[in-house]
Amino acid sequence: MASHTLVKKQGGTAHRAALCSCPRPTQACIRPWALLIERLGNFFDEERDPLMTQTEDRTSLSTEDTPLVPIEKVVALSKRRGFVYPNSEIYGGVSGIYDFGPLGVELRNNIRRYWWWSMVQLNDNVLGIEGNIITHPRVWEASGHVENFVDRLVDCKNCKRRWRVDHLPAENLEQNKCPFCGGELTEPRTFNLMMETYIGVVEGERMKTYLRGEACQNIYLDYDNVLKSSRIQIPFGICQIGKAFRNEVTPGNFLFRQREFEQWDLQFFVHPSEMQKWFDYWKEYRFEWYKGIINHTDRLRFRAHESNELAHYAKQAFDIEYRSILGWQEWEGIHWRQDWDLSRHSQYSGQDLSYTDPATKERYIPWIVETSGGVDRTFLFLLLDAYEEEPPSDKDKEGRTVLRLHPWFAPVKVAVLPLQKNKEELVTTAKGIHSRLKRLMVAQYDDVSNIGRRYRRQDEIGTPFCVTVDFQTLEDQTVTVRERDGMTQIRLAIDELPGYLVEKVMWS
Ligand code: GAP
Repeated sequence: MASHTLVKKQGGTAHRAALCSCPRPTQACIRPWALLIERLGNFFDEERDPLMTQTEDRTSLSTEDTPLVPIEKVVALSKRRGFVYPNSEIYGGVSGIYDFGPLGVELRNNIRRYWWWSMVQLNDNVLGIEGNIITHPRVWEASGHVENFVDRLVDCKNCKRRWRVDHLPAENLEQNKCPFCGGELTEPRTFNLMMETYIGVVEGERMKTYLRGEACQNIYLDYDNVLKSSRIQIPFGICQIGKAFRNEVTPGNFLFRQREFEQWDLQFFVHPSEMQKWFDYWKEYRFEWYKGIINHTDRLRFRAHESNELAHYAKQAFDIEYRSILGWQEWEGIHWRQDWDLSRHSQYSGQDLSYTDPATKERYIPWIVETSGGVDRTFLFLLLDAYEEEPPSDKDKEGRTVLRLHPWFAPVKVAVLPLQKNKEELVTTAKGIHSRLKRLMVAQYDDVSNIGRRYRRQDEIGTPFCVTVDFQTLEDQTVTVRERDGMTQIRLAIDELPGYLVEKVMWS
């Protein structure tokens, strides 16, 4: 709690290895997952290449290359193009709660899939679970959230603005002065962030419980079941992606601080003597992970928590922070949870959650390394990192807005565009290509307005490739493939398209 490679491949033949030999048409038989798995062997190897995130071979962009993006631009794009909408907007909305539109849900799914793949699928000693949002209320007493999950707030007696004590600049705290108007601040008041709910229907018999304030608690609750049902041994980890709920007193900055949001957690269980080793390992692993998905790698850093900002369960903690227009802000927390969680749940439940080493017979409560990040913050930071407004150039006379998302994250992988919509043969051929491609990846067909506008519409949502069907297509069965970042174009046979694109839009 905060105080509270892609290496671009040059077309080629690699995709053919994944063609199957069934009698169905070739384009329907490419197995992207087979290809993916085949390639992933190298992904986290010692000598792996940097995970470049572009359709073109580019090196990491430095902050000087592009200015920090105002959050309003990303909010406006998100609403206009169907990434994110304010929740219950027709009723005036609810602060800190959002819905995800058609493109947003694709991006979210891609983000989740990538995390799961790189954390669970690639690590033999990590397993996944999906726990429920509602648990027994005692869980939250044991976890310390009922008692400790609080924010302290002060109000300005003059301008009535409300501040979180842990967000106040040190001098304002010392002088008890409002950072906005200099007015006197009230005494701090404490607010618990847990959202209450009730199980049962009969008044008097209903049991008060909570929507989970941190998703990871299910992992401790299921730890013993995972251990027994999978026969895995320490050291091992359990992963989960799931919703968490907090009555944040100062929600804001779009998706950054919400009241309902999604977390991803790894809880890694170790022998106490190996805690430092695994803490360092996962800290590094997660940092590299984030470096691999952004363009501006110089906007990433670690920040160690001061002892007065450590969460109640953490003995030490580092935040992986990203620098955007919001300043340096937490993206993920790496926490040294020690034996806090399993000891407390043993104590409160009466169940012994200690571990017996099968070789040495030593009995102990495992210590835990936690890496806990947010799907929503990843969504927001990816958009802020990828968004760029390009001035007019020789390649694009009008200038354009482009989302330089990695093709793997891009909500739409390819758009198929007939050069003209009033030429039946062009339209029929383009629709045919679209129906072949959509079996493999998210593909859009678009014939509205001139071709330049259509390219710009796709650039704005991060579509890495546009396939244009023109008059030459009707003669030689080739199409133009335009790539988003450099706006370069190549000519490709229609039959080569599926393999070419599958290779480009996958991690390799
Ligand atoms: N289990 C540890 C834990 O919950 P945390 O630092 O409070 O730690 C982990 O949360 C991650 O969850 C944060 O790094 C952030 O990415 C995300 N997160 C936390 N509060 C959030 C909020 N109100 N809105 C959006 N994301 C949030």
